[in-house]
Amino acid sequence: MSTSGSSGPAHTASPNAGATRGGFSSGLGVLAATLGSAVGLGNIWKFPTLTGANGGAGFLLVYLLSTLLIGLPLMVAEIAIGRQARANPISALRQLRPHGAPWWLIGMAGMAAAFLILSFYSEVVAWVFAYVAKALTGGLLSSDPAQTQASFDALVTDPVQSLVWQWVVLAFIGGILLLGVTRGIEAATKKLMPLLFLLLLLLCGYSLTLPGRAQALAFLFAPEWHKITPAVVLTAMGLAFFKLSIGMGTMMTYGSYFTASQNIPATATRVMLADLSVSLLAGMAIFPAVFSFGFTPSAGPALVFITIPAVFAQIPGGQVLLAVFFILTAIAATGAMLSLMEVPVVILHERWGLTRPRATLLTLLVLVLLGAGCALSQSTLAQFRPGGRTLFDWADHLSSNLLLPAGGIAIALFVGWAWGERAFAAQLSNHGELGNRALARLLCLLLRWVTPALILLVMLAGLGVFSGA
Ligand code: TRP
Repeated sequence: MSTSGSSGPAHTASPNAGATRGGFSSGLGVLAATLGSAVGLGNIWKFPTLTGANGGAGFLLVYLLSTLLIGLPLMVAEIAIGRQARANPISALRQLRPHGAPWWLIGMAGMAAAFLILSFYSEVVAWVFAYVAKALTGGLLSSDPAQTQASFDALVTDPVQSLVWQWVVLAFIGGILLLGVTRGIEAATKKLMPLLFLLLLLLCGYSLTLPGRAQALAFLFAPEWHKITPAVVLTAMGLAFFKLSIGMGTMMTYGSYFTASQNIPATATRVMLADLSVSLLAGMAIFPAVFSFGFTPSAGPALVFITIPAVFAQIPGGQVLLAVFFILTAIAATGAMLSLMEVPVVILHERWGLTRPRATLLTLLVLVLLGAGCALSQSTLAQFRPGGRTLFDWADHLSSNLLLPAGGIAIALFVGWAWGERAFAAQLSNHGELGNRALARLLCLLLRWVTPALILLVMLAGLGVFSGA
C-alpha cells in the first residue's frame, strides 16, 4: 500500500521514539513501579484464601514451582522485549519480528485481557474504596458476622453504589495516569510501596501476638496433599500469572520504560521475592486474627469484606486497624491498576495516534461501559448467568485460567523461536555489560520447551481435557 517503496517493516511506530517517550527515571523507580504492578488484590484477596482452600503448603509449593519455571522466565522475557523495542506491546512485537507469523496479535489479545481484568478488578477495588470510607467514618464495625454480611450485601446489591464507587476508582487511577509515566506511575508507586510495607508490617506484628497464631500458621503452611488435583494446579499456575502481572503485555509495557542499565533478571527476581513476602505477610496478618476469635476462613470476597470487619470489631482499637487494613489494600490495588490501565493507554496513544490524555479518557470510557457488566453482576444483572457464572466470575475465570496462560505460551514461543537467543541474551546482559550468558541460555531453553509445554499441560488438565471418564 505504501508508496514509499520501502521493503522494510511496514509499521510506523519508530524504534527511536524513545526520545519523546516517557520512562522510569531511576533504578528505584523501576523497582517501585514493577513491584507496584505485581502487588495487588492478588496478595490480599486471592493468595491467602486460595492457599487455605487448596491444600496449604502443598498449594504453596505448586505455586512456587509455577513461579520459578513459568512466571520468572516469562517476566524476564516480557521485560526484555519491551526494553528492546521501547514501544507498546503491539508495536514492540511487530518491530522485533516484522515478517512471518502475526506475533503482534499477542499485543491485541493483551489489550483485550487488560480490559477484561480491569472490568472485574475495578469493582473489587470499588468495594475496598467504599470500605475505606466506611471504616474512616466508623460505619463498619460489628462483631456479628451476620451484620457485616448484611452490610456487604447492601453494598454489592445496590446498583448505584456499585457503579459510583467503580467510577471513583477509575477516575482516581485515570487521574494518576494523566500525569504520565514518570510523574504519575513512578512518582505514585515510589511513595505508596514503602507505605504499604510499613502498614503491612504493623498489622502483621500486631496479629502475630494474638493467640490464634499457631492455628493460622498451620492453616497456611501444613500440606494437605490429597487436595492437589489438576484443577488446583491450574489455579496455582493462574495465580502465578496473575500475581506477576504476566501473559498480557503489562510487563512488556513496563519493560519499555526500564532504564538501559537496569539488570533485568535481578529486578524480576527481586520483584518476585518481594511480592511473595507481601503475600505471606498478608496471610500472617489476616489469619491469626481470624482464628483468635473463633472464625473460620472463608474463600473469596467474604473473607476480606465480611469476616475481617467482624474479626476486627473484637479487637481493642479495631476501628483503626480496620481502616489501616483497607487503606493498605487500596494502596496495593492502585499500583496494579495503574499497570493494567497503562497497556491500553499506551497502545491507543502510540498506535492510534491519540494524545495521552485522550487515550486515557477513551480507556476510562470503555471501562465504564465494560465494568458495568461486572459491577451490576450482583444486582441488576444477578440473574444473567450464561453457563452458570455471572459476568464478574466469567471475567475472573477467563482471564486467569485461559487468556493469561495462552498469552504466556505465545510469549515464550516468540522469544524462544522467533526473536531468538542472541537478541534475547544481548538484552539480558545490557549488551555484554553483565556476564549472564549462561543464565540467558538457560532461560531461553526454558522458554523454548519447558515453559510452553508445562503451561499447555496444566491448562488442558485443569480444564478437564484429560479426564475422559
Ligand atoms: N498482579 C496484580 C495483583 O496481584 C494484578 C495485575 C496487575 C495483573 N497487572 C496485571 C494481573 C496484568 C494480570 C496481568 O493483584
